[in-house]
Amino acid sequence: MNIQIITSEDGSHTLFNSAINEHYHSTKGAITESQFIFINNGYEMLPGRSRSINILEIGLGTGLNALLTSIRCEKDNRKVNYVAIEPYPIAVDILSELNYPGLVGSCEERNRFWMIHNVPWEVPHIISDNFILYKIKQRIQEIELQKDRFSLIYFDAFSPEVQPEMWTKDVFEKLFDSMEPGGLLLTYSVQGEMRRVLKTCGFDVVKVPGPPGKREITQASKPKIL
Ligand SMILES: C[S@@+](CC[C@H](N)C(=O)[O-])C[C@H]1O[C@@H](n2cnc3c(N)ncnc32)[C@H](O)[C@@H]1O
Repeated sequence: MNIQIITSEDGSHTLFNSAINEHYHSTKGAITESQFIFINNGYEMLPGRSRSINILEIGLGTGLNALLTSIRCEKDNRKVNYVAIEPYPIAVDILSELNYPGLVGSCEERNRFWMIHNVPWEVPHIISDNFILYKIKQRIQEIELQKDRFSLIYFDAFSPEVQPEMWTKDVFEKLFDSMEPGGLLLTYSVQGEMRRVLKTCGFDVVKVPGPPGKREITQASKPKIL
């Protein structure tokens, strides 16, 4: 079995894929990292007046980012259409061992974790009042995305060192085109080559302080049309 469950330093689980020698999240804290990068530096950076937003996640994996986003959007009553791409879903016996449901608040939020994983692919589903999920079981390289659609992209791929084919100009150009002007792409990586590629595609790229164990992360925005 390539996948093992690891307890990260904030008590939340992450997965270790021994085939590529890489974790799904930071071992310094999986929930802490997801919350910090994608919610605090992504979701919360969008203008408050946009009541409905389209989010794209590259790599649904454990579903942690989707779960945290659903919890966050119910707090401020904001509609989220969440598209999640995952060509290699995690087996149910591993998902059932993850402690995320027990670490989030209410019973309804715990059930949401299972809804996120159990709903069928390629059909939209209402997961909670404000959170609609559409899962795509394909590689990002093969998907055609609608233009100017997403306000936020969670780029949560394995690192450029182990999966360089995820961090290419072709992929980032596709993501740039799929974003609305003013939209934000977040990733934990600050690799120089990746940042150069993002700039070539047209993104404005900044480094911002990272979560525990990670000095900085990347926030890339699609310029607004003047
Ligand atoms: C670092 S893990 C993060 C997963 C997830 N965001 C989480 O919180 O558990 C990277 C994910 O990207 C997925 N992935 C691998 N190749 C991909 C591809 N070509 N297109 C989209 N996702 C891919 C992996 O299966 C894995 O679930």
